[in-house]
Amino acid sequence: MKRNLITAALPYANGPLHIGHVAGCYLPADIYARYLRNKGEEVLFVCGTDEHGVAITMRAKKEGITPQQVVDKYFKQIGDSFRQFGISFDHFSRTSREIHHQTAQDFFKKLYDQGLFEEIETDQYYDEEAGQFLADRYIIGTCPVCGNENAYGDQCEKCGSTLSPMELKNPRSALSGSAPVLKKATNWFLPMDKIAESPEFKTYSKRVENWRGTVKGQFKSWIKEGLQPRAMTRDLDWGIPVPVEGAAGKVLYVWFDAPIGYISATKEYFEQKGDKDGWKRWWQDKDSRLIHFIGKDNIVFHTIIFPMMLMEHGGYILPDEVPANEFLNLEGQKLSTSRNWAVWLHEYLEAFPGKNDELRYTLTSIAPETKDSDFTWKDYQLKVNSELVAVLGNFVNRAMVLCHKYFDGTVPLAFSHDPAHTGLQKRTKEMIEAAEHITLKVNEMLAEFKFRDAQAEWLNLAREGNRYLAETEPWKLWKSDPEAVKGILHETLNLCVRIAAVGEPFLPETSSSILKQLNFNGSNASLLSGWNQVEPGNKLGEAFLLFTQIEDAQIEIQIEKLKQSAMDNTAEAKESAPAPQKETIQYEDFAKMDIRVGTILDAIKVPKADKLLQLTIDTGIDVRTVVSGIAEFFSPDEIIGKQVSVLVNLAPRKLRGIESQGMILMAESEGKLIFVQPGSQAKNGSGIS
Ligand code: 2FM
Ligand code: ZN
Repeated sequence: MKRNLITAALPYANGPLHIGHVAGCYLPADIYARYLRNKGEEVLFVCGTDEHGVAITMRAKKEGITPQQVVDKYFKQIGDSFRQFGISFDHFSRTSREIHHQTAQDFFKKLYDQGLFEEIETDQYYDEEAGQFLADRYIIGTCPVCGNENAYGDQCEKCGSTLSPMELKNPRSALSGSAPVLKKATNWFLPMDKIAESPEFKTYSKRVENWRGTVKGQFKSWIKEGLQPRAMTRDLDWGIPVPVEGAAGKVLYVWFDAPIGYISATKEYFEQKGDKDGWKRWWQDKDSRLIHFIGKDNIVFHTIIFPMMLMEHGGYILPDEVPANEFLNLEGQKLSTSRNWAVWLHEYLEAFPGKNDELRYTLTSIAPETKDSDFTWKDYQLKVNSELVAVLGNFVNRAMVLCHKYFDGTVPLAFSHDPAHTGLQKRTKEMIEAAEHITLKVNEMLAEFKFRDAQAEWLNLAREGNRYLAETEPWKLWKSDPEAVKGILHETLNLCVRIAAVGEPFLPETSSSILKQLNFNGSNASLLSGWNQVEPGNKLGEAFLLFTQIEDAQIEIQIEKLKQSAMDNTAEAKESAPAPQKETIQYEDFAKMDIRVGTILDAIKVPKADKLLQLTIDTGIDVRTVVSGIAEFFSPDEIIGKQVSVLVNLAPRKLRGIESQGMILMAESEGKLIFVQPGSQAKNGSGIS
């Protein structure tokens, strides 16, 4: 039997985890690890925090603390959230540990000594005031695509374009604000173009054919576009020092060291067990399978760069599967850490204590396996109430309550071969066969990384159970045929065991709650290895509800919280970025507007309306009334006599009972309103076009 080495992307220790991380990577990885363990396979599931790179230094700058303080803080918070949420890592490490620095440096040195790297001198932006080279993220400038003045050197967050620092117009340093200069710097590049042509890479490429569509698609498109050498070292002061001569002030590229973190986490795990070489069985033995769980933004690193590093180093196995997920959105919008548009895992755990499985269930039911998906609080409530409470919780509770009622809380006897029960036994056999069929399907789907479908199929076990009870109606038979009731409830309890066993990867806490109620002992592996029978005469545990309803008030609090973030964001956006351009119109659309120069003759406040002024305007055509929402910005006195631009052919409409015959044009700038006026005095009635 193969060993399964499961990795989940190392989260940057620069912020807390949110549900997008959980749904995209950690939950599917955990389900898979649990599934294989239950099958009795050997599993090692590793992760840890990614503590280098500009993601960390930027956060330190923002929070006004050192990078070390940042990673210490978030290593703890992330680790705590994972533990509380029940992600079953065998080992959780961090890349700032000595063992990782050593492993990453040795890895680099071996490739360096083999002469693999190309030493290339390039022009790099340098901040003379700060006295340091600038990472791409530290260069800000105007996006050549959309004109956003605050685009980063690697990406414009407004239009989504991938950029290189040299493409930015008017670059400035995020450190000092000064204009950076170009300075030559030498770095070591991985010749990806050459490695891609090697027979070993070509053989490896065949594996990709069986991987998920997005993974295969991204892999092929990178190869098709032609790979370029990529720098594996950076001129930065936060990271792992490059272990060769002439590399002072340089560190390993974070994407060079981070995936090696999977290896060092494995080493650390075995060192702690006193088995120093144990890690080699997992990384260097052909009987091990390497499975990387990641989000789609990490595909190139896990399917191309890291495999190239491993194959060039030699002796390592290469990834067997890279089940990358698409992204999870929240209430129809992209999750965003900076905009606080997120459901943070630690906040969820606090707000919904004891409801880990409810979140697991919802996130798996919308797992973004083949396309982006959307989490909404209403959907969460609906799934918990109508599926977990009404289907699963209800079934298990009915089984338990009936056994307590009729059999004093003991497991009743199975059907005996009584001809009087032929019909019932036939129905029971159908139920068992359906359950066996569902179990097989769930297992097949899990093996193919179809977690969403697998969980949906698993819930059908409880649906079968509810149907079975509804059709056999043991409560109606109790008086006339107690033996039949025994047989029915015996099989009902067996179905509960099956639900717990098959469902453990999805809802581990619920699974153990079911087994606790049944007072059923047995490892998950033994549960799945055969059809498990409850033992007649055994005492059952107390019956308790597996789930409770999520009330409207609970989710309203969450929705309100998000609304608040949205409002904060709108206010912030109003202050900073101009609104995006509206849809294109034709000249005819514009020409329909009759805009004239006019003069404000009089202005008075509209009673009981804080925002409105009633203006009397000489438009050159006539003298008319315009009601304008500018009262918060101007007093009537200060605007009398001002020239303005008036849209005179706007259909009149009543505001607070006053007919407004047109509209004056205003510029909105940084929260203030400014009149749009001719540059010098113009005749009233002059057209503006
Ligand atoms: O994208 C990220 O969050 C990275 N920290 C993932 C690293 S995965 C691996 F290579 F360590
Ligand atoms: Zn842009």
